[in-house]
Amino acid sequence: MASPLIGRHKSEIDTPALIIDLDAMERNIRRMADYFADRPAKLRPHTKTHKCPIVAHKQIAAGARGITCAKLGEAEVMASSGIKDILIANQIIGKEKIARLAALARHADVIVAVDDPANARDLSDAARVFGSEIGVVVEVDVGMGRCGTRTTGQTVSLARLLDSLEGLRFRGLMGYEGHCVFIQDRKDQVEKCHLANSMLVEAAEDVRRAGIEVEIVSGGGTGTYDITGSYPGVTEVEAGSYVFMDTRYLGVIGGFEPALTVLATVISRPGKDVVITDAGMKTVTQEFGLPALKGVQGAELVKLSEEHGQIQLTGEAANLKPGDKVEFIPSHGCTTINLHDAYFAIRGDRLEAVWEIAARGKIR
Ligand SMILES: Cc1ncc(COP(=O)(O)O)c(C=O)c1O
Repeated sequence: MASPLIGRHKSEIDTPALIIDLDAMERNIRRMADYFADRPAKLRPHTKTHKCPIVAHKQIAAGARGITCAKLGEAEVMASSGIKDILIANQIIGKEKIARLAALARHADVIVAVDDPANARDLSDAARVFGSEIGVVVEVDVGMGRCGTRTTGQTVSLARLLDSLEGLRFRGLMGYEGHCVFIQDRKDQVEKCHLANSMLVEAAEDVRRAGIEVEIVSGGGTGTYDITGSYPGVTEVEAGSYVFMDTRYLGVIGGFEPALTVLATVISRPGKDVVITDAGMKTVTQEFGLPALKGVQGAELVKLSEEHGQIQLTGEAANLKPGDKVEFIPSHGCTTINLHDAYFAIRGDRLEAVWEIAARGKIR
């Protein structure tokens, strides 16, 4: 997006603003790409985190095999930016959405998760109407208790049906071990994650034994990328948050850097030990806890209301006054990003680009 501020100092950006530290983001992308460079499993980054085509293209340029989306609307945005290989790791239900999906499949290799035979038939009918081919994977519940088949019998019979229906191309299985990604104790995490991985890989073997080719076995998130990514039989990992990180993930895995902040301005100092910012919960989410304040000693964000953040001061931070700028590191990047129209992408301390968050709010 055009901006008269390109090349100017970060402090000149009007607030609240969502900031990318480009060097840190690029190191995160490179680090994850390096991990998968020589492995049988490949990366299929989840774009529900950044919701921004140029970031997805950077991940693909670094080696990702394709992308993952949560919603059809996100997939439409990514496809219109030229991305071809798109997994929608979710069920697409309902006439209108299925028609959109079948139409999109004429322009990209879309793969969608299925866990219900009636939905499989609806997808096939729509693909025939549009003359397209929709890629499909069976979603297997690997212990998270969300969507997915729950028994081997269900998985194999759904795979058989998908493999037989006109207009569909059966690609394999997906199963997301979301109940493992935030486990702090590494031994416990590896144990639980391996159990989930084994459920998925064994389900793939069951489908193969039924004479059906399984090409994709997809799972994994940022918190489990190296466990799931090295589990024999898994072919791809759907990690998303690693690109920016957030305080919740920073507390669980090492090696990746915070690359996303919210820039805010102090708008009031109503008392000696408190300042108020112009960024509140309409700017930064708090379902995983309050954001962290970056680089200010002796100051703590203690409360968010809709449009205000309250910072408690001690020591050096006592100098903060109206007009000063502070940065928050979100506790949950994915939902914070969804509140913003654009990223202000910074290199060093200069604004290098403004990127539209084109898939923001694409919840349909
Ligand atoms: C289906 C699916 N795959 C992968 C992920 C991993 O994303 P992240 O790396 O942000 O944890 C998620 C997160 O919600 C998901 O729902």
